[in-house]
Amino acid sequence: MEKVTLTIDHMEVEVPKDYTILQAAKTVGVDIPTLCYLKDTNEIGACRVCLVEVEGARSLQASCVQPVAEGLVIKTNTKKLRSARKSTVELILSNHNRECLTCFRNKSCELQSLAEELNITEIGFEGEKTETTMDQLSTTLVRDSSKCILCGRCVSVCKDVQKTGILEFTNRGFETQVSPAFNKSMDETPCIHCGQCVAVCPVAALKEKEDIEQVWDAIEDPDVHVVVQTAPAVRAALGEEFGMPIGSRVTGKMVAAIKRLGADQVFDTNFGADLTIMEEGHELLSRLKRNHNLPMITSCSPGWVRYCEFNYPEFLDNLSTCKSPHQMLGAVIKTYYAEKQQIDPKKIFVVSIMPCTAKKSESARPELSVDGLRDVDAVLTTRELAKMIKQARVEFTKLPDVDFDPALGEYTGAGAIFGATGGVMEAALRTLADTLSGEELEAIEYHDIRGTKGIKEADVHLGGQIIKIAVAHGTAMASKLLEMVKSGEKEYHFIEMMGCSGGCVTGGGQPHVPARVKMDMDIRVERAKALYQEDTVKALRKSYENPLIIKLYKDFLGKPGGHKSHNLLHTYYTAREKFPVETVKEIVVLPVKEPTAAAK
Ligand code: SF4
Ligand code: SF4
Ligand code: SF4
Ligand code: FES
Repeated sequence: MEKVTLTIDHMEVEVPKDYTILQAAKTVGVDIPTLCYLKDTNEIGACRVCLVEVEGARSLQASCVQPVAEGLVIKTNTKKLRSARKSTVELILSNHNRECLTCFRNKSCELQSLAEELNITEIGFEGEKTETTMDQLSTTLVRDSSKCILCGRCVSVCKDVQKTGILEFTNRGFETQVSPAFNKSMDETPCIHCGQCVAVCPVAALKEKEDIEQVWDAIEDPDVHVVVQTAPAVRAALGEEFGMPIGSRVTGKMVAAIKRLGADQVFDTNFGADLTIMEEGHELLSRLKRNHNLPMITSCSPGWVRYCEFNYPEFLDNLSTCKSPHQMLGAVIKTYYAEKQQIDPKKIFVVSIMPCTAKKSESARPELSVDGLRDVDAVLTTRELAKMIKQARVEFTKLPDVDFDPALGEYTGAGAIFGATGGVMEAALRTLADTLSGEELEAIEYHDIRGTKGIKEADVHLGGQIIKIAVAHGTAMASKLLEMVKSGEKEYHFIEMMGCSGGCVTGGGQPHVPARVKMDMDIRVERAKALYQEDTVKALRKSYENPLIIKLYKDFLGKPGGHKSHNLLHTYYTAREKFPVETVKEIVVLPVKEPTAAAK
């Protein structure tokens, strides 16, 4: 790439020609403040916080979108700039519902941090406020436009990364909002509940529906037996909520913390992941034999499943009928475990700690229950678990490492990598390769399907046959892959789809990471490293070797794909209308707050 030389704050800088001023400044340790900017996702130059002075230019320039050029002379820290940035943020705050002390983003809010950095101690522009709405009708998400700063990050992620286009700028000028079309409730749209909009929102305008109190109530009820399970990706991110570096693996501390909260048993969803591989592997072999409903497509990601139900109903027969791992484990807890421990399943309350917001609505699907009992009673995100740990004032970083409870806590390395894109496929291949070859193969790592490339493909030689596989993550990529399959351009036997870019490690329920940090690192890579590390330290790395899985089939389930498995561990899907004709639900219009007397 051709390079250019320019001057930033009296320092000579040589950078590739396609850099922006913001990127160039980073190379010499100059951190220009930003707000709307989100690397590779939202680069629209909307907020004007990142202004810089360019010698010879008639106005201040937005550094996040302004390209570098040979010989530019740039200043990033002058009185004029500090004053312009301050005024911009004051204007944003003047139309903002500033309830920082009682706001769920207090201390993790990018606007709050920016106001502090810019030394904003009063707002000089108080006046009329835009009418705002509160939408709490979705099963999973809450939208509070009184906190929205119109940065457009959620619009970009929803449109470009997820190809769902639920959120958009609506109205004009002072009335502008970010909302679904016609200010409908998210509940009335084909929203897939992935929570990627929540993950990128710099403020508290979007959040998941909290289920914390329901879980505290269950824990405090002496008649209820609370079983908590934790998804693979949670251990790769929970530590961030307690100041630990991104990518810290905190498995043992996480278990210790949940026990301190009062759970009766703590199991690992990785056990459910191993079980999924047994069922899914059997299903694939059966479909390959009959050349039926191929390519088979994974179904562990409820965001992806919902996307398919709304947008590609013609592929629903291709989805694996396997429930997702936490639902499988929930079903096993309320049957096998309940029977063994002689506990009435009605008295068992299963809590899933997930990196995912879509699992909240998934667990409420009526088909994901056995004999009228839900497989999973409550789903908490990683963020909600962190809140409970903080509420209980447990000093997380000082906790010792504690093991999962033995009844259903054993898992293999294959189960651990489910949380990264390509992990489900790799875990399945490890078991399939041995099954088809009749040998215990040593080469078990499939590097072609690791990493963050949007679509990954490979031809795998298994037991004398070539299996064509593909992996896609983020529903825009899933859509791209399915379009290629539809047109006949590509043919596969087995596809892994994940609703979120990067897989569950960057699910919508994971700890918020400021855009400024994401500029310097790919958090998908860092968190995935923690899971691959967990895989390598496990003595057993293939799902079928899990001794508890072997026992479960021997004592209870029979065989993979058998009658009992079918009843407990498999499900079905439903084509959904994108725009159902039904009464428009009323969302709450918040009263516009009067400015204070002092501000008038
Ligand atoms: S979103 Fe941020 S600035 Fe707004 S009230 Fe919450 S913490 Fe304060
Ligand atoms: S949850 Fe996902 S699909 Fe729904 S609005 Fe947010 S980004 Fe879009
Ligand atoms: S909801 Fe959040 S991400 Fe979306 S525009 Fe508003 S502040 Fe930005
Ligand atoms: S305009 Fe550059 S960060 Fe918003």
